[in-house]
Amino acid sequence: MEKLRVGIILGGMSSENEVSLNSGRNVYDNLDRERYEPVPIFMDIKGGFWIIPWQLISQNTTVDISEHLEREARRISYEQLDDEIDFAFIALHGKYGDDGCIQGLLEILGIPYTGSGVLSSAIGMDKVMQQKILKGAGLDVPRSMVITEEAWQLSKADMTQHIADTFGFPCVTKPTREGSSIGVTLVRSEDDVADGMKNALEWDNHVLIEEFLDGIEFSCIVIDGDDGPRPLSLTEIRPQSDYYTYDDKYMPGRCRKFTPPKNIPGEVMDAIRREVVKAYKALGFKSYGRIDGFYMEDGRILITDPNSSSGMAPSSFFFEQAAEAGMLPSMIITELIEVSRKIHQEKRGPL
Ligand SMILES: Nc1ncnc2c1ncn2[C@@H]1O[C@H](COP(=O)(O)OP(=O)(O)O)[C@@H](O)[C@H]1O
Ligand SMILES: [Mg+2]
Repeated sequence: MEKLRVGIILGGMSSENEVSLNSGRNVYDNLDRERYEPVPIFMDIKGGFWIIPWQLISQNTTVDISEHLEREARRISYEQLDDEIDFAFIALHGKYGDDGCIQGLLEILGIPYTGSGVLSSAIGMDKVMQQKILKGAGLDVPRSMVITEEAWQLSKADMTQHIADTFGFPCVTKPTREGSSIGVTLVRSEDDVADGMKNALEWDNHVLIEEFLDGIEFSCIVIDGDDGPRPLSLTEIRPQSDYYTYDDKYMPGRCRKFTPPKNIPGEVMDAIRREVVKAYKALGFKSYGRIDGFYMEDGRILITDPNSSSGMAPSSFFFEQAAEAGMLPSMIITELIEVSRKIHQEKRGPL
């Protein structure tokens, strides 16, 4: 039997390209070689595709890989991708990677892929649109407002006052379309508002401001199956910083994660997982996703950050929750590939 050629697409054009390298490398290491033939595909910072020898995957950064491309890798055009792989495992994160752009390209080429389709991926990246949809579906989300760059530049003092009156402090400013906590600021006082706005505006031209949630943060992977979307175990996040920062996410030993949670009662965990599946369905996610939120002291469950993809490093929520369900990394990767293939076989038009 011919093995399915699985292109693992890693790197990419976003601020999260180094995170993607870690994800892709780990997927490459754990792909079941009995069933699949891995084809590592590096997407460079300009969006070009390169088939790289497996040795290059062990480079420390995407910059290191880039320096070897001309001599050691093979540049392919978008059209050629179709000749090289039968299926795409998208290990990209952030803009152009899990926001519908690469999904659109793969749809045009007729290559099935992991994760959600074009529209849901775009929604999965856009925190403002997500909140509208989640609210409409009866889910609880943080109180928030959006300030455009134009409005901010026009009257910083008025906007600062407006934020203070609406949320008080602390509150949170974030870019509407980023990930890995990039551009997120915990704004502690009026004096910090300008910095928070500046941090977020580096990444997008409008800013989402939210009330600060003083609760327990959770994360839950959902994977599609024959019986519909299945939530894995919850993880409780105990960051070392005041919120779950980039360093807490990726520096070894920084953050405690409890799978299953230590401080959330059993019946609440069930309720959270029901809300998580509701959010997954409302956003139209397919194949898998990761829904993050907060459990508040007063019992409320808020959905704050639904993701149409998830980090895939060894200690990621994805593999930690798979392990809790008794699945080795190779097992859940196989499950994800197979469920995604089925979804693409059954679709009518782009996913
Ligand atoms: N409204 C909020 N209240 C408290 N903490 C928040 C809030 N929004 C975000 N955070 C903290 O910032 C982190 C990153 O924000 P998030 O919205 O999840 O963006 P990203 O897409 O970058 O992960 C969260 O994991 C959480 O710890
Ligand atoms: Mg998040």
